[in-house]
Formats: sequence, structure tokens, C-alpha cells
Amino acid sequence: MQFTQRTHTCGALRAANTGETVTLNGWVDGRRDLGGMIFIDLRDRYGLTQVVFAPQHNAEVHEQAHELRSEYVLSVTGTVQARPEGMANDEMPTGGIEVIVDAFEILNRSEIPPFEIEDDVDAYEDLRLKYRYLDLRRPVLQKNLLLRSKVYQVVHRYFDEHDFVEIETPVLMKSTPEGARDYLVPSRIHAGRFYALPQSPQTYKQLLMVSGFDRYMQIVKCFRDEDLRADRQPEFTQIDLEMSFVHAQDVYRLIEGLIQRMLKETLDVDLELPIPVMDYYEALERYGSDKPDLRFDMELVTLSDVLRGAEFKVFSGALEKDGIVSGINVKGRAEEFSRKKLDEVTERAKALGMGGLVWMKAADGGLTSPIAKFLSDEQLAGIRESMAAEDGDLILIVADARRKLALEALGTLRVELAKELDLVDRRAHRLLWVVDFPLFQWDDETQRYYAEHHPFTGPKPEDIPLLDSDPLRARADCYDLVWNGSEVGSGSIRIHDSALQAKIFSVLGLSEKEIEEKFGFLINAFRYGAPPHGGIALGLDRIITLLAGITSIREVIAFPKTNSALSLMDGAPSHPSAEQLKELHIELRK
Ligand code: AMO
Repeated sequence: MQFTQRTHTCGALRAANTGETVTLNGWVDGRRDLGGMIFIDLRDRYGLTQVVFAPQHNAEVHEQAHELRSEYVLSVTGTVQARPEGMANDEMPTGGIEVIVDAFEILNRSEIPPFEIEDDVDAYEDLRLKYRYLDLRRPVLQKNLLLRSKVYQVVHRYFDEHDFVEIETPVLMKSTPEGARDYLVPSRIHAGRFYALPQSPQTYKQLLMVSGFDRYMQIVKCFRDEDLRADRQPEFTQIDLEMSFVHAQDVYRLIEGLIQRMLKETLDVDLELPIPVMDYYEALERYGSDKPDLRFDMELVTLSDVLRGAEFKVFSGALEKDGIVSGINVKGRAEEFSRKKLDEVTERAKALGMGGLVWMKAADGGLTSPIAKFLSDEQLAGIRESMAAEDGDLILIVADARRKLALEALGTLRVELAKELDLVDRRAHRLLWVVDFPLFQWDDETQRYYAEHHPFTGPKPEDIPLLDSDPLRARADCYDLVWNGSEVGSGSIRIHDSALQAKIFSVLGLSEKEIEEKFGFLINAFRYGAPPHGGIALGLDRIITLLAGITSIREVIAFPKTNSALSLMDGAPSHPSAEQLKELHIELRK
């Protein structure tokens, strides 16, 4: 069907267009009947323009306009005119003008939408996800996806300028371990065999270094079957890269330039460089987290030295077992914490695995606390001094033999309280490199080591001897990029030596046979002149949420999954037909 094509978008017209005859195409955002006239905001992705159907201007057109409803698609032709005195809307770019309609066509009608297409929609997210194509008409989601598109362009331009080669890697591949479960794809041709969807292109990008590409990048989908949260999706996007002949600092400089450019080009924010660097142990001790949020203070203070030998068993007991006593100072907020509120915070500490929580209020130059009587004056003064406490401050202390658990529990309280007490500067962008994580963790349940990052991460060269003597003390040559308390990237300098790679696999408890079966191709490749190399992957979706100033990753993905990995719109995952299963040599258990 023919229709009159637009001369302008719905965001384009200004006072300077007054008197022009124009055609707009778009959706009816809402209709108001006022004083015998019909006003419609016509919407497209560029904006809204008010169009007016006036009986005195064109009675027939006005009469026909009574039929128009929300979300009808129109082509409207008319004359641009200045809005009457006092009717201009300064909040809208097109708010100074309106289009008085001479003729229009209905290009399509719409059923009544299941929710209003507006930013402050009150529909449940499930309903929005079911009708995602309508949800995506909402200006905020359009804004998020336009921002995302802009970031792709910044990324491509930046890496092109820096001599990177964009290379696509397979989606049907052999499993690589990033620590999550794989999504598997059954092979029809090879009965009983499965491809894995990539948790990341980690092995391929390393192989591309062996091939001599020197600088690889890709904006790439990754798939992980893991527990989902506000910042996790089963399929998500990485800005993935790898470089040959580099040290960690080269990766920092490159990524810092990229983030600086992104912030400038999308938000016009200037990021000061270099981004500070903190080692993992310091981050844990000062923030109780490997992803510290630096937008507020309330740092953790280790009180072990002050409290060693204390009569109070919770403290001395933890310290005797090589544990830790650590506290935070909630500055000037003591009065806001009633007994009931403190009980509630204590319950939260317990839910985080702590035996309890000690609180103290600074008053009259001293400290009041239910446990004050078990501490000496000197210890109380020591706490006040270490915590830089002033009258009116609230101090919260945890003590536990399990250092990491205790620090992380306090770190979690730090973040939660800062949000609740509104201490977070929401406009700030605070970035940090957290580096030199331990290479391995020990898992009590399975009685074996796991790679903290992934098994291709190189140890710090000076820690290689520890692989035999004390693997848990060996540090990795790795780095995470943290942005406002969110991990937005992770990478490392890799192992490029096949003997060292085999050694790491053996510490991880893989047998020769397993190593050969799972990673033989990679170890083989390293035998043919693999260059020293390293890289990083940035979580693109998380970066967009930070740029957009929102918390849910689903708001920056066009068609996201729910927290239970469902696509409510198309019903994926769905049941395959009996025929498909048969072809794939699969029988479902009843
Ligand atoms: P890693 O597994 O840390 O490293 O992933 C890199 C970054 O990807 C983001 N991310 C996610 N975002 C959304 N949903 C998820 N389920 C999800 N999982 C991870 C995070 C994370 O920092 N191959 C290595 C990188 C390397 O060593 O070069 C890797 O994938 O922001």
C-alpha cells in the first residue's frame, strides 16, 4: 500500500519550521479532546510532536480523527505553526510548535496495549517482558538501546585506531571452563556428542595470538548457565580482547583510554587517569570486597592489634585462631540506630555467616556498648582512635576465625548501609583496578583446588615456586576492573609455556588424560612458538547499566531473559518435537 512518507521525524521540528507543510509518520502517544479540538502527540524514536485536528481548519479531518486511539500508526500532513501564547512546553524540544493537520492516513490500527507506553509504567516486569516489543517503544528503553549502540561505535573506532583486528570466533565449540555450567548443543551428525556454547572465547583468542594476530578484539555473546541476578544474564556481551608482547600495565592503559572515551562521548564526563590500582588483599581488608565501591568512605578498619588478648571471648577467640576483628564507622549516625534497628542489623550479619555483631556508640568522649564492660579502658580508647570516632558515630564490629568471611560480611553491610543511609554519590564514576588475586581457591567439599580466574591465568613469576610448596599463597598476574562497586572486566597475563600450563592443570587435579582430552589442542599450540600474551574481557551490558545509571541489566538488553532464564515473549526454552529429539539421538526421561 502506498502512503505519504515523512518529511521530518517527530523530534525534528522547531520554531524555524513555522509555515512549512510537513508530513510526519509515527504512533499515537495519547489523545486529548479540548475545546472542540483534538490534540495528539505523535511519537517515533526521535521524539514527540503535537498534531492538532481543528474543526475550523478542516472539519472533515477533525471528524475522522475521533477514531484515533493510542498506538495507531499515522501519516499526518499539515502546517507547522507556533503554539499559541502560553501553550509552549519548554520541556519538549518540539514544545514551541505544533502541526495543524490538513490530511492524515491511518497506516495501522492497534489493539488496546496491555500497559501504557510511558516511562513511569506501573506494569509488572513479567508483563512488560511478555510484550517486549511494546515495552521497547518506551522512551527510556529506547534511550538505553541507543546508548548501547553508541558505545558499540566508540568501541569499534577506538580499537581500530589502536590497530586491533576484529575476528569472530565459533559459537559451536568445545567447552572452556569459566566456572559456570555450559549450554550444550547436541550434534545430529555425531550421535551422543555435544557442542558447548562459549562461556567466553578465551581459548580461541589465545590461539589467535599463537597465529600472530597480535591484537584481537570482538564484541561477542557469551553463554553461561549460572544463577541469575540483577547484573547477570545467561547470554551476555563481552568486549573481548587479547594482545601479544604486553605486560599488565599495557592492558590498563589501553582499557583506561577506552573507558575515558566512553564516558566523554556518552555522558560528557571527564575521567581522570590513571585509574588507581589496589591489590586483592588490600581491597578485602579495607572494603571487605574484591570489588570496592569507592563512591563513599566507611572503610573497614582492622582492630586485631588493639584487641588481642581482650577479655571478651568473641574477639580474643577469633584472634587466637588466626582470625580477624574489623569494624566500620557509620559517621554521625548513632542516633538513628535504635536498639530495634541494631538488632535487625545484627540479624543481617548473622545471615551473612557471622556469630553476631558488636555495636558501639561514641558519646561523651568514650564508647557505650553492651560489651564495653568486657574491654579495658585502653582497648576502648584504642578502638575510638583507630576508628577515628567522634561523638555521635556508630561503630559496628565483626570478629571471626574465618578472615575472608568476616571481612566480606562487613563489606556487605558497608554497601547496604551506605545505600540505606543515602551516602552514595550517585553521579560519581569511581573506577579501580583490583589486581593480583590468589591463583587458586581450595574447596573443602570436593577437596581440590579451583582456578580463581581461569586455568590459563599466569602466576606472578616470583610466585612460581609456590606452585609446589604452597599453592594457595601463589598470586595470579591478573586484574579486575571495578566501576562503582561492580565488576565490569576481568583479565590476566596468560601462561604461554606448555610445561607451566600442564603444571597448573595438574595442581587443579586434572589427570594427564583429562588434560589431553580437554585442552590438548591448546597445550599443543603452545609448543609452536606461542608469544607472551594477555588480555581482558569487559562486561558490556554492565557498562551500559553504569552509563545509564540503572541497576537492572535487563533494561539494557533488547530481549532479556528472566531470573529463571525464560524468554517470556517467545516462550523459550520450549519443547522440541519427538522428530527433532529422535534426529538428535535424545530420549527424554519421563
Ligand atoms: P569473566 O568470566 O570475568 O572473564 O567475564 C568478564 C566480564 O564479563 C561480565 N560477565 C557477565 N555479565 C553479565 N552476565 C553474566 N552472566 C556475566 N558473566 C561475566 C563481567 C565480567 O567481569 N575469558 C575471561 C576474560 C579474560 O581473561 O580475558 C572472562 O570471560 O563484567
